[in-house]
Amino acid sequence: MEQERIRCKKLLDRVMTSDEAALLIKDGMNVGTSGFTPCGYPKAVPLALARQAKEGRKVQINLMTGASVGVELDGELTEAGVIAKRLPYQTNKSIRSAINDGRVDYIDQHLSHTPQFVRYGFQGNLDVALVEACAITEDGNIVPTTSVGNSPTFVQEADIVIVEVNTSQPLKLEGMHDIYIPQDPPNREPIPIVKPGDRIGTTYIPCDPEKIKAIVITDITDKVRPLAPLDDVSRQMASNLIEFLKSEVKVGRLPENLLPLQSGVGNVANAVLAGLLESDFENLTFYSEVIQDAAFDMIDTGKFAVCSGTSLTPSEEGLKRFKDKIDFYSKKIILRPQEISNNPEVARRLGVISMNTAIEVDIYGHANSTHIMGTKMMNGIGGSGDFTRNAYLSIFLTQSTAKNDDISCVVPMVSHVDHTEHDISVIVTEQGVADLRNKSARERAVEIINNCAHPDYKPMLQEYYDEALKKTKNDHTPHLIGYSHEMHKRFLETGSMKVK
Ligand code: COA
Repeated sequence: MEQERIRCKKLLDRVMTSDEAALLIKDGMNVGTSGFTPCGYPKAVPLALARQAKEGRKVQINLMTGASVGVELDGELTEAGVIAKRLPYQTNKSIRSAINDGRVDYIDQHLSHTPQFVRYGFQGNLDVALVEACAITEDGNIVPTTSVGNSPTFVQEADIVIVEVNTSQPLKLEGMHDIYIPQDPPNREPIPIVKPGDRIGTTYIPCDPEKIKAIVITDITDKVRPLAPLDDVSRQMASNLIEFLKSEVKVGRLPENLLPLQSGVGNVANAVLAGLLESDFENLTFYSEVIQDAAFDMIDTGKFAVCSGTSLTPSEEGLKRFKDKIDFYSKKIILRPQEISNNPEVARRLGVISMNTAIEVDIYGHANSTHIMGTKMMNGIGGSGDFTRNAYLSIFLTQSTAKNDDISCVVPMVSHVDHTEHDISVIVTEQGVADLRNKSARERAVEIINNCAHPDYKPMLQEYYDEALKKTKNDHTPHLIGYSHEMHKRFLETGSMKVK
């Protein structure tokens, strides 16, 4: 097995235990790891590091990844008190609590920014790159696994590289990746992607074998997330969105096979693709970040001609299905560094249709993707900003209410802003669609309240807007400063935004 996976013979003597490799990670170091969504992240070395810390070794690190990672990394290292600072995105419960009670400092960063900020030196020296691989080539280059994320830049920039060769990852992943690292200004050139299926780089991460100081062999599997069965609200949102896209085709603003689609993470995103599966759209392309189960259905039925992303994020069943038909899927799927999958230049050139989920939106079209009630970090902005600002059409989906209708997801003023009124074209809830293009702030308020708010909250929002219009004498963006967060305040005090 070792010979098959570690094809650079001179590296065979660097194979060691996870405990030995973990000792190369020292207190105060900046560590960049592979992993994007709970796929393709290192597992054995983080588990060893957590064990060592629990046994009394003093070690705290600043951890950068591609995006969210599995429990062996964010979960175990948080529990062991190893993470001092974290970026750019997370979804793990333990680290979320630590971020929200001050034990971990968190930088919520656009995912396409991380690698260039590392190269620019904005995030300090990168001491260690710890990456999962399915193989190491004859020349010492690294073949990634189920995600690419930031591994290419981490490997290029780090002082030393630790590789986890994971035998649970199929060797047939080799060939699916397309690795390209842009030059930095003033030497950056256009990224030569003009179609979602273009390949512009190598199938491996270039690596000087001398930098590889440890290789750990493991077979711990990706801890992929289960997807909830599609509920009626998600289905209705997806159906509203698809009707909107159809109407855009009808009036000639979109081609028959649409433009490359980007779809966010989670159940709503999966429902949108499931809705497209049932629609009449054909020959679609996907230029996105994560590839979830519904994308496999789209490939199976021939709806997706090509599927480009940085990570595979299937459920357990989806992962099995992927592995069973890997020869078929590998012809359609391209896995790129997140700097390229989420690249603003490419998103704008291709004319991506971005479809992301918000926690709440306000009546003027700002969106909060990250904070619960304005203060508690949920996950992070992820790639939503990379796409939203640069898409041909920037669409946000949210259910009109949360927490058994005690929260309206349409509010007078969002409690935290991630995406501004300048960037969002369309908002979709299960109630309907607000098309914000070519509308002034006051026109948008009318559109959003009428089309997207839940009937329980419509009168409250209308009353706020009418009162704000009156008090400000029709200001450009009418607000009742001091009262704009009255609904949030009521929820925090009484457990419901409704007036009791
Ligand atoms: N106020 C308070 N809580 C709210 C809320 C609101 N307005 N809206 C939703 N929530 C809660 C839900 O009740 C749920 O809580 P729970 O975890 O206790 O059950 C939680 O937020 C998640 O909501 P859910 O409806 O399950 O949505 P989701 O799983 O589709 O996730 C985001 C929604 C916004 C958190 C998620 O899409 C995200 O992290 N987005 C940012 C990153 C991103 O867009 N990435 C894709 C770019 S390619």
